[in-house]
Amino acid sequence: METSDQKGYRILVVDDERSMRQVIYQMLQYAGYDCLIAANGSSALELMRDNPIDVVITDIVMPGIDGIELTQRIKKEFNADVIVITGYAKDYSFGQIIEKGASDFIKKPIRANELIVRLKRVLRERAVLEDRNRAEKALIASESQLRALATRMKEMEEDLRKELARELHDRVGQNLTALSINLNVLKNYLSCESIGKTKRILDESMELVVETAEHIRDVMARLRPVGLDDYGLVAAINWYGERFSAWTGMVVKIHVEGYTNRLPISLETGFFRIAQEAFTNIAKHAQANNVIVTLKDFDGRVRLTIFDDGKGFDANIIHLPGKDAGWGIVSMKERARALNGIFRVNSEPGKGTTVLVEVER
Ligand SMILES: Nc1ncnc2c1ncn2[C@@H]1O[C@H](COP(=O)(O)OP(=O)(O)OP(=O)(O)O)[C@@H](O)[C@H]1O
Ligand SMILES: [Mg+2]
Repeated sequence: METSDQKGYRILVVDDERSMRQVIYQMLQYAGYDCLIAANGSSALELMRDNPIDVVITDIVMPGIDGIELTQRIKKEFNADVIVITGYAKDYSFGQIIEKGASDFIKKPIRANELIVRLKRVLRERAVLEDRNRAEKALIASESQLRALATRMKEMEEDLRKELARELHDRVGQNLTALSINLNVLKNYLSCESIGKTKRILDESMELVVETAEHIRDVMARLRPVGLDDYGLVAAINWYGERFSAWTGMVVKIHVEGYTNRLPISLETGFFRIAQEAFTNIAKHAQANNVIVTLKDFDGRVRLTIFDDGKGFDANIIHLPGKDAGWGIVSMKERARALNGIFRVNSEPGKGTTVLVEVER
């Protein structure tokens, strides 16, 4: 009769005494377990190399490898539980047996009831552990999947931004330039008499074209910072700092130390987006007067810090995005992680805020 307790489990009985292993084998078979036997430690280990075993029930005193050594080797090489059978004279204490890695022990003389109860308990614990390991593995897998997805989404966002900026420049921008030239030509063609009537409309149209071109340039700059691809991170941060200063009235200082060789564009883009998010937070929350950006290249590492002398906040309190806080800090952290970098926010109320990101070159 097989119940769910026995299903799929395989037990190995190890004893040098033939009659003893036969008795245990029969007890287990009668209870419905799939069972194998071995006459000594080394043949048990050999057998286990080809047959997955869940629980080994072994005698202690055996010639060659004894039950304790066998337990230690099984725990090292295999994923199996061990129940040790102790003799009449106490060979080892309970504590010693468990310390060597056994899950339980049974004293001779062996009674079928006790053997099965102890075996069931060991199998139950094994099942719980297996479930937990499976759940842990699934969690780790889905976490890394999510992370990969987040990284991919950021890449796609950057690609889309680049493409939109290029489209705006190549099509809309060029067309606006052509339109402005046409309007000028038209103005020159018109006779003095008719120009009086249409001049205002023409001038307004030309102004509109110039204004639209400026607006498009602004949108392009927001999509993809001017100079990041061609001139690099320092140029892009300088440009952004200037604009930020003009928008907010805060004084922005940028220090660059040792940064001469450019980073791969994915790293530069990541750094820039983190800086942009930090600048946005300063504008939104800090009420600062000064912002100091430092880009330092040292010992094969690049570190960017953005300090503001604003009101600060308790950075130790973790706010959950969507509930009582936003996504800015979470997304900076994720970006830094995607770059295999370190990310920190240091802040205390009244003491300003520093955002730090550091990566290996
Ligand atoms: N430079 C700063 N000065 C003061 N407080 C800050 C600063 N940066 C962040 N904070 C505080 O940390 C909180 C979390 O910032 P985070 O960027 O994650 O979210 P948010 O700015 O509120 O929303 P979102 O970024 O999604 O628009 C902010 O709500 C603010 O209280
Ligand atoms: Mg924010």
